[in-house]
Amino acid sequence: MLRTPEILRRTGGKPVKSIIFDEATIAARVEELGAEITEAYSDGDLLVLGLLKGSFIFLSDLVRKIERPIQVDFLVASSYGEAKVSSGSIRLLYDPETRLEGKHILLVEDIIDTGKTLQRLMALLGTRKPVSLAICALLDKQLAVEPCPELRFVGFRAPPAFLVGYGLDHAENYRHLPFIADLE
Ligand code: IMP
Ligand code: MG
Repeated sequence: MLRTPEILRRTGGKPVKSIIFDEATIAARVEELGAEITEAYSDGDLLVLGLLKGSFIFLSDLVRKIERPIQVDFLVASSYGEAKVSSGSIRLLYDPETRLEGKHILLVEDIIDTGKTLQRLMALLGTRKPVSLAICALLDKQLAVEPCPELRFVGFRAPPAFLVGYGLDHAENYRHLPFIADLE
């Protein structure tokens, strides 16, 4: 358990188990991802779509490392509960105002666990006639049932633990931690 004064000040006295990715490690990888994305899109309009809320810190760092014209918008999605009729579908609570048709879409997500959230969103966004649809996830737990066939950019393989910080929350807490930590 880590109980440094810096951590305890930020968490309100709760220790974290360990820091999985520190600030410098994250910053270096985000810079590389920005370069990969810049390289991958040689022409056309690129719309970077951040999935709220988890992607907000990652997205803000990432877009500043992309060295080509882009547009930025956000999505807020909500899955229907398992018990409800439409389980397996996803509902957009905020739908991007920017047109998707005819653009390269890069969907930015904090972490892929089962991959279900992304699978559903990709299916939905695919109906909007983008030129291409790709994923950029900071973390991938690699438990995805079906590997997504689409182009994807991944920051780090994540351990099968519950992670918080750098946008990731536990019950809306810890999003502001500048590093990614294992909570348990
Ligand atoms: P999936 O649909 O199973 O891939 O779940 C992805 C979503 O679950 C992410 O967007 C996160 O909001 C949340 N999530 C999955 N693993 C973690 C974690 O370790 N910490 C915080 N949130 C997580
Ligand atoms: Mg979340």
